[in-house]
Amino acid sequence: MGSHISHWDDTLSEEIYSKQDGLMSRVKTGVEGLDSIIGGGLPEKSITLVSGPPGSGKSILSFQFLYEGIKSGENGLFLTLDKKVNGLLTQAKKLGFDFQPALEEKLVKFRFLNINKKLIYEAMVNEILSGGYDRIVLDSITPLSEMPIYVNSVENNSKLDISIVNSEEFPSNTNLPVRRLHIQYIMNALEASESASVVTSELPMGSSLLSRDGISEFLVDGVIILGFDPTMDRRKLSVMKMRNTKHTLKPQDIEISEGGIRFI
Ligand SMILES: Nc1ncnc2c1ncn2[C@@H]1O[C@H](COP(=O)(O)OP(=O)(O)OP(=O)(O)O)[C@@H](O)[C@H]1O
Ligand SMILES: [Mg+2]
Repeated sequence: MGSHISHWDDTLSEEIYSKQDGLMSRVKTGVEGLDSIIGGGLPEKSITLVSGPPGSGKSILSFQFLYEGIKSGENGLFLTLDKKVNGLLTQAKKLGFDFQPALEEKLVKFRFLNINKKLIYEAMVNEILSGGYDRIVLDSITPLSEMPIYVNSVENNSKLDISIVNSEEFPSNTNLPVRRLHIQYIMNALEASESASVVTSELPMGSSLLSRDGISEFLVDGVIILGFDPTMDRRKLSVMKMRNTKHTLKPQDIEISEGGIRFI
């Protein structure tokens, strides 16, 4: 009888556990230590914000995430606004992420989004929605969230027509509600793609915000902060938020070397 009850208890707690964790499949980030503190990986179909100051490892973590997918035949998209693609590929290769074979097999696509082009949003959203990508990286959202936009029409709040104008046409008075709409638009596209997405955000050194815009962190499923402890000559990674996941908030010691980010 006793053993029956304990069996029943086990089943019950397992059921509760699986409800909490949604029995969802996890998407490995490629950083073993990170996966192990978030229940095996990022929740499937989730958007994770990776924030940190310059040089903290945001792009490296993004490479690692896409590369991990490629290893198991998943396809990926890397959207970048900062640098030319060739430079990125060289940087990745130096760290041990050689994307060349996957590029040739069309398993991965790197796309430079030119922020000076008016149709950047259309280009980006079309790309996100076109490919049936398993993994998407947007590195970084910061220049996009700081671009001025205007709203053409809002019909019964149901259909938003967002257009981009350049800063000469629309002087820089990007206020919070407009910016929120802007970021929401990007996040909606990522959500609709049903991919596992990583979006990076540039934080000034010592910032207490979780993203540069102060909005993104509320619109995503997970937030990972990368940072430094210069006095200890240490790099840090903290998981501040992760949907359906019990996790520590404690900053973890990491290092960057060949192979990317590693817990130490
Ligand atoms: N081979 C390597 N070995 C050790 N550390 C490296 C290596 N390559 C790069 N790094 C470290 O990683 C940092 C760059 O990381 P990364 O490009 O991911 O930063 P980031 O957060 O994307 O920065 P930014 O905001 O400027 O784009 C370098 O500043 C350097 O400290
Ligand atoms: Mg970077």
